[in-house]
Amino acid sequence: MCGIFGYVGQKDAVPILLKGLSRLEYRGYDSAGIAVLDNSAHLIVRKKKGKVKELAASLNQHRNAPHGTIGLGHTRWATHGAPNDSNAHPHLDCSEKIAVIHNGIIENYVELKEALKAEGHQFRSNTDSEVLAHLVEKFYKKTGTVKEALKLAVAKARGSYAVGVIHEDEPGRITATRVDSPLVVGVGKHENFIASDVSAILEHTREAVAIENGEIVVLDGDSYQLSGANGRVVKRAPRHVQWNVEEAEKQGYAHFMLKEIFEQPGIIEGLIQKRLCKTGMRFEELKIKKSRLAQVKNVHIVACGTSYHAGLVGKYILETLTPLTVSVDNSSEFRYRDPKVDRSSLVILISQSGETADTLAALREAKKRGAVVLAIVNVLGSTIEREADGVIYTYAGPEIAVASTKAYTAQLAALYSLAFHLGLEVFPPKNPKRKAELFDLLAEFKKIPGAMSEFLAEYRIDRANWDANCAEYNRRYHKSLERYFKTAPAKRKRAPNAFFMYLGRNINYPSALEGALKLKEIAYISAEGYAAGEMKHGPIALIDENPWVVCIAVDSPTYEKMISNIEEIKARSGLITAIVTKGNEAVKKLGLYLYIEVPKTSELFSPLVIALPLQLIAYHVAKEFKEEIDQPRNLAKSVTVE
Ligand code: M6R
Repeated sequence: MCGIFGYVGQKDAVPILLKGLSRLEYRGYDSAGIAVLDNSAHLIVRKKKGKVKELAASLNQHRNAPHGTIGLGHTRWATHGAPNDSNAHPHLDCSEKIAVIHNGIIENYVELKEALKAEGHQFRSNTDSEVLAHLVEKFYKKTGTVKEALKLAVAKARGSYAVGVIHEDEPGRITATRVDSPLVVGVGKHENFIASDVSAILEHTREAVAIENGEIVVLDGDSYQLSGANGRVVKRAPRHVQWNVEEAEKQGYAHFMLKEIFEQPGIIEGLIQKRLCKTGMRFEELKIKKSRLAQVKNVHIVACGTSYHAGLVGKYILETLTPLTVSVDNSSEFRYRDPKVDRSSLVILISQSGETADTLAALREAKKRGAVVLAIVNVLGSTIEREADGVIYTYAGPEIAVASTKAYTAQLAALYSLAFHLGLEVFPPKNPKRKAELFDLLAEFKKIPGAMSEFLAEYRIDRANWDANCAEYNRRYHKSLERYFKTAPAKRKRAPNAFFMYLGRNINYPSALEGALKLKEIAYISAEGYAAGEMKHGPIALIDENPWVVCIAVDSPTYEKMISNIEEIKARSGLITAIVTKGNEAVKKLGLYLYIEVPKTSELFSPLVIALPLQLIAYHVAKEFKEEIDQPRNLAKSVTVE
């Protein structure tokens, strides 16, 4: 989905651009590039297939880094055109005086490109983005300013974009705009920045201005000027960003993912402390009045990927703690199925980034239908937050690893908190016994961060065993592969299947889905999550000694049914890892491959604790298979295209 970054100030731009890009790499890492106006105001571009560190190494090796105090940078997630040097950004116009970086998709680029070619423009890439460079070139000739040229250029383009432009004829100035792709301005002392996300500017400044759709910003080292789509000047003061740069560093952990896994108990603890009050749970930022919430008759949760899994858990949470019925949709499907959403509906959008294009489209659809729209987001100032009626922040801090961990459990914590708020304060139970039950559950919720810390403390001690078990799995799998290839082709049966199956029931069925997604994302091994009761309806056909089956078998009303499923898998030689409640000795007598013990909680809160071993299984398997844990192939953290 690409990361864009720009610097204008008094310092050497290249190291700042490279650092900024490395912070944005979670958004895409197929290729990286920079454009700098050097000290004689000549535009110099360096770009390369691969990651930012490869671009940096090449600048080092060839000693050809340009020197100047203004520049643009881009890290790409390919949509149009293969990841290679020529498709890497920045893109230049024909005169090579204008450089453009773009995040998003120009949907009508084919017709624009044909028209520009007919006018004599020469294209050098297969990207949609390059049309913007040529459009700015064309309109600059007419208008004489980059700002006016960019305005006319984007008026021709259909789609989503955040664009930054520099021009040799306007040295010392960056011009940028956006529609449906994120863009912030970082305001420093004698230096200013543009970036896709605040995490890229934190080491320079914590003062940021979010750019709204259609606005154009022009910045030099000392000021920024914003104007609206109608051309009028917009005055917007910077907002102070709460995140700090340490949160965006690895702090001694081997990977961001591991660091983020370890941050979870502290984040959940903080969230609970922030919101707990005598009457239940309160949110400073919610903005939606209690009286409006009291009109709600049905709830629809809409999200993508991991956030969708949090939403699935949220259905169980809300239906347990409130009188409301809840449906859950993938954002990418929601608006195509004529959802029965109206003024009586509360639509909850869950998004770590707050920029996911499908979730944003679902939000707009829900608003159109009159629903009250609440966003659960992590990134403050994101588009989804700004367009929703109300917001609940997950306060998880910057999540850098592409595979979401802490944002997921923080989303769950937000959903529990919201459910307590609705269940106790908006729809207070008439029956005092029920009220007391809810307060008992709230008291238990407060203890969950402790249970999460306890699990992680034991994991720290046992860490070498996690590695050893994954190595053993790898060895077994490779042995069966060897056996297969040693068999004469005519006699071979099915090839061994390195497949993970995750089984859970009730509120931990979504946990199973999330466990499988984590593994797929970072270990590239096929994995599926199933409701354990569904196993007999098909997936059991996959069981033999190869697939690794993870069974969530913690204490719960469905525990015994889960044990029956375990027996069924065992009877078919399945390699089982059971996640069990600490102290359960009975399950240990079953002689399974592995047991992972988690502290005892009631079933309602178990997804928060179970998330930890599921994340760690994915982490250790990916590590054993030597995969790039923080930046898995083909993925981007923020999916700003539909
Ligand atoms: O920023 P969002 O929460 O809206 O992102 C949704 C998904 O793209 C995201 O959860 C994705 O599935 C992650 N890579 C999961 O690890």
